[in-house]
Amino acid sequence: MLRLHTTFARPALASRLALFSPASRRFVRKMSQKTLFQAIKEDHEEMYEYHDQYKRARERGDVEAQTRWVNQLRWEVARHAVGEEIVVYPLMEKHLGEKGKQLADHDRAEHLNVKNDLYQLEGLDPGTADFDNLIEKMMASLHHHNDDEEIDDLPLLEPAIGEQASKAAAQEFKRTKKFVPTRAHPDAPNKPPFETFAGFLAAPIDKLVDVFASFPKEEEMKEAKEELKHRDHDAAASRAAKA
Ligand SMILES: [Fe+2]
Ligand SMILES: [Fe+2]
Repeated sequence: MLRLHTTFARPALASRLALFSPASRRFVRKMSQKTLFQAIKEDHEEMYEYHDQYKRARERGDVEAQTRWVNQLRWEVARHAVGEEIVVYPLMEKHLGEKGKQLADHDRAEHLNVKNDLYQLEGLDPGTADFDNLIEKMMASLHHHNDDEEIDDLPLLEPAIGEQASKAAAQEFKRTKKFVPTRAHPDAPNKPPFETFAGFLAAPIDKLVDVFASFPKEEEMKEAKEELKHRDHDAAASRAAKA
């Protein structure tokens, strides 16, 4: 059975320690210049990349690799969702008036569906048809939801708050993601005033479970990151062509 409940830190500790090197500080400075749209879009692309890796593992019948990539996908999806609920949706409500409230409510409802899917996955075994069907259903919903954010929400929000606020929000979003647990329990509150860390810090025991959860190996992640670069490049080219 898949065992991933909560984590408070990225599995690759070495990558966090590397933040202290000069190259990494340059990387962090570069990251900090991203707008909210770019930060969110990059996360979406990461989800698609992990899903692709999962499908490839499934095609070659490698259930262990499927488990690793699904863990990575779930971890990314859950903390991305919580990060948006804490940082992005309140901004939409604050700066986009009634329309912002409608969009945020719509997004929260879609997050709830995805959280339900994530929660149900915990009771299924990787490598089974039920598990696979649920993953594909969840990813179809996520594609639709992510497109809503990229096409409707963020293009409205960014001009409303301005570039500096957008970059500050991108940093806040990334910071928030680092500290939120990834348990995606559908009962977890996702609306202000409960959109705080306190609402999500209720499962310390689950941290122990994470010790046993398997994530993609270093070389697997390296390969995925390489592919992501091309994915980002393709996405930027397609945005430029549309502009
Ligand atoms: Fe979202
Ligand atoms: Fe998103």
